[in-house]
Amino acid sequence: MHLTSKEERILKGEEGFGRQKAIELLVALGDIYGAKRLVPISSAQVSGASFKTVGDAGIKFIEDFSSEAHVSVRASVNPLGMDVLRWRSMGIDERFKEKQMRIVRAYASMGLEPLYSCTPYLAGNRPRAGQHIAWAESSATVFANSVLGALTNREGGPSALAAAVIGKTAEYGLHLIENRLPSVQIDVESIPQGSVPLLGYVVGRIAGNRIPYITNLTLTNDEHKSFGAAMAATSAVSMYLYGRPGVRSKIDTSRIEECVSLPESELKECQDSLSGDDSWDLVAIGCPHCSTQELRRMARTLDGKRPRKDCNVWFCTSRKAYANAPDAVKTLKRFGKVLCDTCMVVAPIEKMFKRTASDSGKAMVYLPTLGKQRATFRTTDQLLEAISR
Ligand code: F3S
Repeated sequence: MHLTSKEERILKGEEGFGRQKAIELLVALGDIYGAKRLVPISSAQVSGASFKTVGDAGIKFIEDFSSEAHVSVRASVNPLGMDVLRWRSMGIDERFKEKQMRIVRAYASMGLEPLYSCTPYLAGNRPRAGQHIAWAESSATVFANSVLGALTNREGGPSALAAAVIGKTAEYGLHLIENRLPSVQIDVESIPQGSVPLLGYVVGRIAGNRIPYITNLTLTNDEHKSFGAAMAATSAVSMYLYGRPGVRSKIDTSRIEECVSLPESELKECQDSLSGDDSWDLVAIGCPHCSTQELRRMARTLDGKRPRKDCNVWFCTSRKAYANAPDAVKTLKRFGKVLCDTCMVVAPIEKMFKRTASDSGKAMVYLPTLGKQRATFRTTDQLLEAISR
């Protein structure tokens, strides 16, 4: 891999131990994947911020690294294991909170932005088309590549942090235009109401490790958010391309090796398989984090209704969306907790609940594994109906 003279100096340790360790990691990754050079990035997004997922070893790594390094580009942090302000009302204990706050302080001392959201693109860290970035959160990388037109691989937490420190990442994978072409075409017949997350879930399974080109797809940005999150959860790919009905596509389809029809019946079968019964301890909405528009839409639906007292509800969102929609938040708080900085997967939900219903395709993958939950899928409207009377 070719390094500039400045990069060579960093590698020799002439700019400090932290920057040396960071560039060593980037060069090692570049060598593994055959990168020819490092490319400058406009932003980074770092995962591995919840004490639940990183544990004591993670805290030690982050604290040690933070004493030696500082970020050199805009960089934000993925959700934590708790709402920094309402941790007690979530049921988080003192020990967890103390450990979590050590991670918060370590990242802050490195200069990372405390967004604590998987939707940085809605909370101020929004790259432009054509910009190279180094993002770690899978749902955010797929949105950045597919909707915003930025270029990023699905980074690991340490490699995104290293990229944030150096301001560059190794140029391989989705940073190269020739690797951003689809190799499987998926023709979507139609999408039942509220089933976009399931479409992502099924498309991911079909795609596997191939970039899919989905025809006949008209989604809002919020729908792209939940579609991509589910697709990235059931596949290894961090990008999709799509064509709108009746619009001539300019997408290069020369590498497509398989065309698959996706009938509506397959989405219904998927829904049946994830539907379970109506018994749950928690209704969790906001995976990925709810946007301002989603908070407002849910509040409108619930306006004038009364909450069911026997139902725990979490609405997970970013602090930015929370601040943008005070009236909606006020309405939603009558029905449950509106939590920032965290989510149903990276919070220690397994210590509080056993059965969780959600409207998220991604949550259907991770609630049973990371959260040890019996997970049930319902559409957003079905959940709002279930929590109100
Ligand atoms: Fe975000 Fe947590 Fe889902 S990080 S995408 S809300 S699993």
